[in-house]
Amino acid sequence: METAKKLAEDAAQKIKDAADIESIDIGLTLGSGWAKAADLAGEEIASIDASEIPGFHKPSVAGHTGKLRVVKLDSGKHALVVGARTHFYEGYGVDAVSHGVRVSAALGAEVMVLTNGAGGIKESWSPGQPVIISDHINLTAHSPLSGANFVDLTDLYSPRIRKIALEVDETLDQGVYVQFPGPHYETPAEVQMAKAMGGDIVGMSTALEAIAAREAGLEVFGMSLITNLAAGIQKTPLSHAEVIEAGQKAEPVIAKLLAQIINKL
Ligand code: HPA
Repeated sequence: METAKKLAEDAAQKIKDAADIESIDIGLTLGSGWAKAADLAGEEIASIDASEIPGFHKPSVAGHTGKLRVVKLDSGKHALVVGARTHFYEGYGVDAVSHGVRVSAALGAEVMVLTNGAGGIKESWSPGQPVIISDHINLTAHSPLSGANFVDLTDLYSPRIRKIALEVDETLDQGVYVQFPGPHYETPAEVQMAKAMGGDIVGMSTALEAIAAREAGLEVFGMSLITNLAAGIQKTPLSHAEVIEAGQKAEPVIAKLLAQIINKL
């Protein structure tokens, strides 16, 4: 952990130098479908190849930009837009997964916004629908923390920011996000297990990052774009192409929504 923190501090210093900024206010990880939110939220003041910054890995997933961007929001606050999420299934370990969050914290952020594309368990949901994450179940059997580090995860997904999101769009539904390790999609039986446990959304990111964010003292807000109904809930097989397509279709609407929320933080 100490080395992870040091790496995050080194990365933060490089970003400060490259963007000529002292600090940021918000870290923003944009998952599948969410990339345009940053363009609508404010004005870009720097765009850096993540591969030039210590600790980031080349994204392996189409739909992730591989860029770190510093954006001056319309609200006047500054956001670091992390378009280079490392997923747990890439095998680089939990510190790599948590790096974007820790770099945001090292840059002085107080809020971490985590977004993703995910499968929906609730039958009333449709592909293209954004939902607020209310809580999570971490089924990776890992933690980004180690040692006797007993971090409280009550109200991990900030009730304050969820309320702000509902002020922007009162029709938004909320759900419990279940992080599976991936990279395979779940079996229908696993989806039923997640449902029985109280889960509403299945995906392969976010929960580990949210834990790292809480540990770093950040207030967390999470949103999922439902790109498909989860395996067995939808009657057709899942495909990555379908996930990307749903993301592209929903992008203008969810980008605007997220840009509005971010500017109220
Ligand atoms: N499961 C897990 N991850 C996902 C899904 C899904 O159904 N859709 C998009 N990412």
